[in-house]
Amino acid sequence: MRKIVVFDTTLRDGEQAPGFSMNIDEKIKMALQLERLGVDVIEAGFPISSPGDFEAVKKVAETVKKPAVAGLCRANKKDIEVGYEALKNAFRPRIHTFIATSDIHMQYKLKKSPEEVLETAIEAVKYARNLCEDVEFSAEDATRTNLDFLCKVVEEVIKAGAKTVNIPDTVGYTVPMEFEKIISTIMNKVPNVDKAAISVHCHNDLGLAVANSLAAIKAGASQVECTINGIGERAGNASLEEVIMAMYVRRDIFNDVENGINTHEIYKTSRLLTSITGVQVQPNKAIIGKNAFAHEAGIHQDGVLKERTTYEIMTPESVGFPSNKLVLGKHSGRHALLKRIQDLGYDIEGIDIEKVYNKFKVLADKKKEVYDEDIEIIIENQTSIAKEAFSLEYINIVSGNTAVPTATVQLMDAKGNISMDASTGDGPVDASFKAIERIAGVQGRLKKYRINAVTAGKDAQGEVVVSVVFEDSGIEVTGRGYSTDVVEASAKAYLNALNRYLNRKNFGKKEVSDTI
Ligand code: KIV
Ligand code: ZN
Repeated sequence: MRKIVVFDTTLRDGEQAPGFSMNIDEKIKMALQLERLGVDVIEAGFPISSPGDFEAVKKVAETVKKPAVAGLCRANKKDIEVGYEALKNAFRPRIHTFIATSDIHMQYKLKKSPEEVLETAIEAVKYARNLCEDVEFSAEDATRTNLDFLCKVVEEVIKAGAKTVNIPDTVGYTVPMEFEKIISTIMNKVPNVDKAAISVHCHNDLGLAVANSLAAIKAGASQVECTINGIGERAGNASLEEVIMAMYVRRDIFNDVENGINTHEIYKTSRLLTSITGVQVQPNKAIIGKNAFAHEAGIHQDGVLKERTTYEIMTPESVGFPSNKLVLGKHSGRHALLKRIQDLGYDIEGIDIEKVYNKFKVLADKKKEVYDEDIEIIIENQTSIAKEAFSLEYINIVSGNTAVPTATVQLMDAKGNISMDASTGDGPVDASFKAIERIAGVQGRLKKYRINAVTAGKDAQGEVVVSVVFEDSGIEVTGRGYSTDVVEASAKAYLNALNRYLNRKNFGKKEVSDTI
């Protein structure tokens, strides 16, 4: 069996995409879950890009025990030194250095000849190897690179000491038949290819990232780079859950490879990411979308009831997908709740069960039926790591078709001080946002506002997701709030965005150019 190294870049390529940035605590939480999921390498960030990213890579490197921790560095000494400084306390640090090798990138972006690029790549790898045993080199835009030149680069960086050579489809341009050929050419033509792992890193601009990654694995690649929920630059990266489940479900075809992923942790990892970033996956997303295991058509339902495999190629349990069962009501006790929390896959250590139980009771009083999704929300709110600069104490709304919508809001700050203010607005939601802004002394521009019912039923909790651009810095932050009262859910979402913003403000990303 060939072991496929799973290299997760959710915290680097994924986090780089607009709307997905994470603070240090969020990255650590995500990294610990990726460790439980069983990834082999966590790319934790791009250390030189900002002090916040440096700190985050350092903390992740010091926290996780099993996976290697990688940091991205351009092919120059400064990046590599800073990268290593962030990584050096990891059990298994990996420097990941890269330079573009396609004509178009070399000519227009780098303004370097192929000879200069080759030299720079070799120097960077040698320099990195002086600091760190485990060095990965990426030939950026490899799929638009002259294949002979690509093979030469691969050969030379292996000679210089790279343990892994990554062949990225940076712009999501290739197709499976072509990529398979590129990888098999490298496997057959590069004389020292057996001295390094060949990796692939596919973007999804044509919706082919997963297909291309699988074709490359078939052709001999032994590392696959991917992200949870497929997040990443532009259309994203190859989705980890799709690559892994394709190999699992079609083990008749992928019969010569194995990997260390615990598929039962997939759903939880995906949910953690959506709860951190506030960005949901589409309902029809393969493997982890809300509808991924829902059979709507009568013929399908009939088939599944007679024999599950008629329409199901994998079980929801295999990816840790919770069944949509009605669970508890207001007469349920602590034990039943605890059992359900464990069944949902949560590690109860670190969860304040008493607090969760109290919140559950309050909700059960408002709602007759409490579903798995409701419990997940309570837990995620309780374990939320966004330090609360402000929390909502009280909200009162006056609204109606003849009244001027007015919100009175009371907030508590981190020191326990209470402030109250009121505002009118175009509607009750607008009025509550304005009242919050008056207390916090910030101005935000609402870019997106979305409301969903979390479960079925008129008494369902409302989930509000907002995206707010804060005027003093232009930073856009997503926030989420839940309540059976949708105005309260909106105010909570706005406060969540504000708290995340205040946490993040000091860690704004520095622009890094691609010129070495
Ligand atoms: O897409 C890409 O080429 C990258 C490299 C830096 C690996 O993200
Ligand atoms: Zn990428």
